[in-house]
Amino acid sequence: MKTKRLLFLVLAGFFGLTMFASCGGGGGSQEQTSADESTKMEATDGPDAAQMAKGEKIYNEKCFACHQKDGNGIPNAFPTLVGSDFLLNHTKEAVAQVLNGSEHVPSHGDVKYPAPMPPQVDNYEDAVAVINYVLNNFGNDGGYITVDEVKDIEIIR
Ligand code: HEC
Repeated sequence: MKTKRLLFLVLAGFFGLTMFASCGGGGGSQEQTSADESTKMEATDGPDAAQMAKGEKIYNEKCFACHQKDGNGIPNAFPTLVGSDFLLNHTKEAVAQVLNGSEHVPSHGDVKYPAPMPPQVDNYEDAVAVINYVLNNFGNDGGYITVDEVKDIEIIR
């Protein structure tokens, strides 16, 4: 099921790009401009293959040391991301936490961790890519969030 959905997204992304390429080069009519724009949105905002690959890279560089390779974290030190209510149901706050660290995000859950999560990335694109990656890995099937949805988060750090 999950694999099928991903495959669909990859294929949709591929055809989108092919169409984008074959439409290019014409005159700049208004109609064409808006078509280009929606294609561009899809390419940067949806969880296409490129965004997932970017998210995976960021996870392996930055998150895995604490949340571990399988996303399960370490009890009482780093929370698991598998089935995390915060991640799955407060996804925008999770994006804010990746940008600003947990000191700047309203508290959640009962467990008090010995140290807050430090800020991890400094831009919306990276934050959304890595959150979409964890939303759809380690057994999570959490949908996705777009850059447009998080642009009003103030980047504090
Ligand atoms: C230095 C260790 C560390 C790193 C690196 C780290 N985190 Fe965290 N993460 C934490 C801690 C500690 C918490 C709990 C924070 C709290 O509750 O105040 C947390 C909480 C979270 C949560 C909320 C989970 C829940 O159920 O409460 C998410 C989502 C999350 N981290 C994602 C990420 C992502 C994505 C990255 C990489 C971009 C990352 N973290 C990198 C330590 C880390």
